[in-house]
Amino acid sequence: MAESLSVSGTTKKEKYESLLPQIKALIEGETDFIANLSNIMSALKFGMDFFWVGVYHVKENELVLGPFQGPVACTRIGLGKGVCGTAWKEKKTIIVEDVDQFPGHIACSSLSKSEIVIPAFDKKGNVILILDVDSKHLATFDETDKFYLEQVMTIISKCAN
Ligand code: SME
Repeated sequence: MAESLSVSGTTKKEKYESLLPQIKALIEGETDFIANLSNIMSALKFGMDFFWVGVYHVKENELVLGPFQGPVACTRIGLGKGVCGTAWKEKKTIIVEDVDQFPGHIACSSLSKSEIVIPAFDKKGNVILILDVDSKHLATFDETDKFYLEQVMTIISKCAN
């Protein structure tokens, strides 16, 4: 059973470097995907002090809300809709500095000002889920977040079942 997380460092890079091994340790020995996703969302929320962090699972032709930390969110998103549906359709990470400037952005919370969305893939290259991280501030996310959150998604892809 994992003890509470302890994230050290002052820069974003240092915090991710401290958090990543703890995320790996957190899910070690546990095979249940939802349990692991739930703990990873908590580790990201409290380790990185994100406003909202959660996943959407690809289910048939929609994204459906999965484990998350933060205010309640919309439960279903179509292919190509909003930032999440666009990341799913384009199979790539999307960084949005100002959500008001993203055509079709879906506002689950009026407090969200910027976000990053990262897909996870199965072995065939199909998107299996989407990670969405929201901030109450403009232009919060950059290439450092992309680099480390894509590593988190690789971890998630490996424990998907
Ligand atoms: N803003 C997202 C919707 C999900 S919520 O932010 C949690 C989007 O445009 O897809």
